[in-house]
Amino acid sequence: MSGKNDRDINALREKLSDIDLKLAELLTQRLETVESIGEYKRVNSLPVTDPAREAEVIGNAVSHCPERFRANVENVMKSVIGEAKRVQRGRLNIYLIGMPDSGKTRIGKRLAKRLSMPLIDTDKYIMQRVGLSIDAIFAELGEEAFRSMETMLLAEVAKAGGRVVATGGGTPLFNDNDRLLKNSGVTVFLNRRLSALLGQSVKNRPLLAGDTEKRITALYNERLPKYLSIADITLDPDAPDAINRLTEQYEKLLPLL
Ligand code: S3P
Repeated sequence: MSGKNDRDINALREKLSDIDLKLAELLTQRLETVESIGEYKRVNSLPVTDPAREAEVIGNAVSHCPERFRANVENVMKSVIGEAKRVQRGRLNIYLIGMPDSGKTRIGKRLAKRLSMPLIDTDKYIMQRVGLSIDAIFAELGEEAFRSMETMLLAEVAKAGGRVVATGGGTPLFNDNDRLLKNSGVTVFLNRRLSALLGQSVKNRPLLAGDTEKRITALYNERLPKYLSIADITLDPDAPDAINRLTEQYEKLLPLL
């Protein structure tokens, strides 16, 4: 081994280390920008994957390289885009939707634990913020006020991202909530059998008070098409192994978003 060669390779390696440092800084800046774009996409109901934009980004990068490195740079850019999408997918929420007493909070708690994600229960959050029970909000402020609070909270939750969200039974039915749910996260419809939904407590469920069974049946029939139309995953929460099935389906779906 000649000393000159050692010096040459050491100099070249130093040069590479300097370049890598710059690359690491640039990649960090890129991922931070990707996070902000992810927030914009969640708030504005845009999907994580945008094939036309991906082709543009790769084309741009490749056009700045000498011919002999184009294929290499194309591969690197594909991998950079893959990591960007991983970051954006990691901030998607998981929304549990479905009728009152369909197990949104119960399944939500288990899912949050399983995936190490924080859980937010929208009804509970609204009660804490307003300092009134759902029954009292409906009685004193009216349903419309409740629905506005629900939509405002949903917008905050979509912006923040990265949570398991147990929604209220009516959430997907009001305002533009269905659109907001659709691309700011994965939507899981807990389709509990109607017979299992009957006979539930009406505490904090003012819409069910009175002839409860008749109201539950009417609401179920009225809401079912909407729940089904926005669900990425539909599941009977009483099925054996429901939580395992849910996590399996979620993990299969995520890389496709
Ligand atoms: C409602 C369901 C309730 C609560 C409010 C309205 C509905 O939540 O948001 O009483 O429209 O079905 P749960 O589904 O958690 O009971």
